[in-house]
Amino acid sequence: MTGKRSGPTRRQTLVWHAFRPIPIAAAALVVLLLLAVVLVHHRSREARLLRADPDTVLNQPDLRRAALDQGRAVFLRHCAGCHGPDGRGADDRGGAGVPDLTDHEWLYGEGQVSEIEAIVRYGIRSRNPKGWNLASMPAYASLHPYAAEPLPTLTPGEVDDVVQLLVSYEGLQANPQAVARGHAVFTKAGCWDCHGPDARGDSAIGAPNLRDAITLYGGSAAVLRQTIEQGRKGVSPAFADRLSAAEIRAVAVYAASLSHSASRSVRKDAS
Ligand code: HEC
Ligand code: HEC
Repeated sequence: MTGKRSGPTRRQTLVWHAFRPIPIAAAALVVLLLLAVVLVHHRSREARLLRADPDTVLNQPDLRRAALDQGRAVFLRHCAGCHGPDGRGADDRGGAGVPDLTDHEWLYGEGQVSEIEAIVRYGIRSRNPKGWNLASMPAYASLHPYAAEPLPTLTPGEVDDVVQLLVSYEGLQANPQAVARGHAVFTKAGCWDCHGPDARGDSAIGAPNLRDAITLYGGSAAVLRQTIEQGRKGVSPAFADRLSAAEIRAVAVYAASLSHSASRSVRKDAS
């Protein structure tokens, strides 16, 4: 009796076993299809980002949002160690020559996405031969201050005088006789050749403006003396081998947005 009753049950069990994989396979297929759709969408967005004129991405709402999301992640991972999570410079990097990316002063160019993209790809004084490397700050206390052109060694007194000139440019109190002598040192030492006759810098070679409160290394007399005596050559690494073309563009869009949004809040504050 028990054998008879268990017959259909066994058949039912067999049928169940035969058909059970179908819903599982269907679910797996749906998941795979969804993944494929997401991947294709992601790829086509990356392709559109790469086809776009980089300098217009911030004005195209759909491209902008995706680029900023991706760019922020790349920035936090690869740039924040030096530039800080907010682009204002990492706390433990004060005085290391890392520029604030949220202000409107650019060492190189004008902060356009295409310009930043080239910096991310090839770097500044990086080992990449296409990186920016047109000029560095000479070391005026040494016998041969600069490899690329002959420049005079400065005495400690001459360095003090030109430091007083720069202190006066920052709007701080300086010794007037030393400032007058500092002008002569500025001419003799060729400072004007890179920083410009008016010391407002040259963004074609990365020479900073020496007449405002924004500094790479600090504006105290002691730091200025160290800069002039020992020279400076800040490095931003090249990411050409480490990031994809889409990641490089996205992080450049994000870095450019840092100063763009700053300009909006400044305007808001002003109104
Ligand atoms: C190892 C530290 C370091 C890392 C990592 C780094 N940077 Fe830099 N970056 C610097 C320094 C230092 C400078 C200034 C170079 C100079 O003195 O000319 C700089 C300069 C720049 C500039 C030029 C700013 C201007 O005023 O013209 C940009 C743009 C920039 N970095 C973007 C990035 C981005 C984006 C990343 C990440 C993909 C990155 N950097 C990673 C140290 C770094
Ligand atoms: C060959 C070009 C060149 C000459 C000549 C030159 N500089 Fe510079 N100077 C630079 C560059 C490039 C930098 C930026 C270095 C860096 O980014 O790390 C710089 C940086 C500086 C800084 C640091 C600015 C900051 O924001 O922290 C000071 C100060 C300075 N120069 C003063 C002088 C004075 C004074 C002279 C003349 C005695 C002089 N420089 C001559 C190219 C030059």
